[in-house]
Parts: sequence; C-alpha cells; structure tokens
Amino acid sequence: MIVGDIDRAVEHLRRGMTVVIPTETVYGLGADAANPTAVRRIFAIKGRPVSHPLIVHLESSGRLESWAEKIPPIAARLAERFWPGPLTLVLPRRPGVLTEVTGGQSTVAVRVPDHPVALSLLKAFGGGIAAPSANRFGHLSPTSSRDVYEEFGESAGMILEGGPCSFGVESTIVGFQENVPVILRPGAISSGTLEAFLGMRVLRSDSKDSSLRVPGSSLSHYAPETPLEVLPEEELGQRTLYLAARSRRVGILCRTVRPERFDREGLTPFSMPGDADGYARVLYAVLHFFDRAGVERILVEAPPRTAEWEAVNDRLGRAALLRIGKEYPEPSREESLR
Ligand code: TXA
Ligand code: MG
Repeated sequence: MIVGDIDRAVEHLRRGMTVVIPTETVYGLGADAANPTAVRRIFAIKGRPVSHPLIVHLESSGRLESWAEKIPPIAARLAERFWPGPLTLVLPRRPGVLTEVTGGQSTVAVRVPDHPVALSLLKAFGGGIAAPSANRFGHLSPTSSRDVYEEFGESAGMILEGGPCSFGVESTIVGFQENVPVILRPGAISSGTLEAFLGMRVLRSDSKDSSLRVPGSSLSHYAPETPLEVLPEEELGQRTLYLAARSRRVGILCRTVRPERFDREGLTPFSMPGDADGYARVLYAVLHFFDRAGVERILVEAPPRTAEWEAVNDRLGRAALLRIGKEYPEPSREESLR
C-alpha cells in the first residue's frame, strides 16, 4: 500500500491513475473526471457496470459552471448552504462532460466534499475528480483506509489517509424535476434538514410523484457478505436463540436492547449508538467487522422509522432484502442436530 501525499497524488491523477480519497462520507476511488481512460480504470477496478454514472467532486461551487448548466435556483441555494458537505446535486450537464462519467445521461452528479485531505487534493489538482465509493460493485462502502485496503489490496493505487469518515454513510443525492427537489438517494443530510432549510416538501424518487431514478441503485447494494435480518426489538431475543440453537455464529446490533442479554458462546452483541448520526457513523465499520469475523448471520434491532433514521433504514433495508430464504436458506434440522 502506498499512503501518499498530495503532490504525489496530483501526479498520479495527471498520469491517469486512480487515487483513493478520504471524504466526510465514505472513501472514494478517484480519477481525473476529464480523462476517459482514467475514468474507465475506475469501472475496471470496481467491477462496476459502465452505465452507472459517477459523482464529480469539485473544490468549490465556483467550479460548477464547467460541469453543469441551467442550474435551478433551488440547486444554487442548496449548494451555497450545504457545500462543502455531504450533498450531491444532479444537474443538466455541460456539453463535453464525458459519457464515461455520466453513463450517457443528460445530467451530471456533483458535490464539494467536506474533508481537508480531499479539498487540498482538489485544490492542488484544479480539475474535477470522479469518484464512486471505494468498494467492489455491490459491496459495503469503506469508512477507513483499512477497509479500502482489505477490499482492493494494491489494485486501488495510491491511498490518501484521512482517518475515519465523520458521517460514515454516503451523501444525499438530490435531483430536480421542474425545479422541485427530489431525493434520489437518502444520505448523510436528512430530508427533514433539507425541507426545513428550503421551507418546502422534497419528493422521494421512490414515490409515485417522481419520474427521476438513480441508475444503479439496485436493491442488493450496500450489502455485507453475511446475511442480515432486521427485526423489531421484541423479536430479537427469540430469533437469536433460534439461530444459536442451530449452532450459528450470530452478530447482533443492539440499540435499546441490552447486549448483556446475549452473553453466550457464539453470540457477538454490539451496543450501537442511540442517535441516528452516531449509528450511521459506525454502521459500515461494524458490518465490515462481522464479515471478517466469520459470523454467519447478522441480526439488527430495527431503528425507529423517523426522518432522521432514513439513510440508516435505507441501507439496512438494502442489506437485508431478498437475501434471506433465497441465497441463504434457513438452517436445516440436520444442522441443528450437529
Ligand atoms: O458520499 C458519496 O456520495 C460517495 C463519496 C465518495 O463522495 N460517493 C458515492 O458514489 O457514494 P457512488 O458511485 O458509490 O454512488 C453514486 C450514486 C450512484 O448510485 C449513481 O447511480 C448516482 O450516484 N448518480 C451518479 N450520477 C448520476 C446522475 N447523473 N443521475 C442520477 N444518479 C446519478
Ligand atoms: Mg457506492
């Protein structure tokens, strides 16, 4: 692993190589957004379908006009209030923005990250840096340089160390449908915060009023390797005992339930932070930990369904969906006798 400095990272970018950049949300796998060969390298390293567009990271909103045009006034207000920060805006692209970056769409996603290392790099580099999360396609996003290295080894190129990510969940992506903001991906900034600032309702792209969609937001995204179930608090104990009796090693994310209840061999309870921001900050790190620890099932005490928990609920829902009972059958009777 090369943990690089800014000057060497800029050199790497200019030569069309990838650089892993820390941001306040998750680590990104960055490349020069104006160099098609460099951008294609990102897709190859991640194993990502080329139709999934990338976010272009900019040093400041002053750079926006090189990438986007016909910027809705509401978008400009959001940029002014939340940048640098974990908000991505999907805007009409300028002609000349690479098809490799936009996935052939008429829009481009842009954000100004709020991380000193990312901002120093962007400033020294001058141009836009295209960067998806630094994980293989469909896997969990990394919130530390170690998680990036565990995922890619040497193949991600230079890694800039930036410490643990302060939000730990990806940026909120907002698009515009006739000047009405639409949340394309819930993230680090809640819909409540956006609505309070704008003084208006924002739509969700999964609502029937929205015609906007995020390409590549397939359900199996953001998933750990280990099968995961989200359960209401009152079912957690019984489900844990059921699995433990069938000799499954179980990791448990407790929120209000006391972890001492699971003091038994084969069970690894984690006491998660009680607030949504704290929970989001450590969630991916805990899931990564369970994947590495060889746990066979992860049980999660369901968080509240309120707006501030929407990003956490979205990611947990994706991690859990479709997998139980199909890819990962229930333990059988024979297994339970072993
Ligand atoms: O917090 C973040 O947003 C991180 C850090 C590294 O900035 N980046 C990130 O990138 O999560 P990625 O590629 O893992 O997710 C970006 C999402 C994808 O689902 C992609 O489809 C969507 O943004 N996206 C990109 N360009 C788009 C566009 N023009 N229209 C709609 N969705 C777009
Ligand atoms: Mg990603």
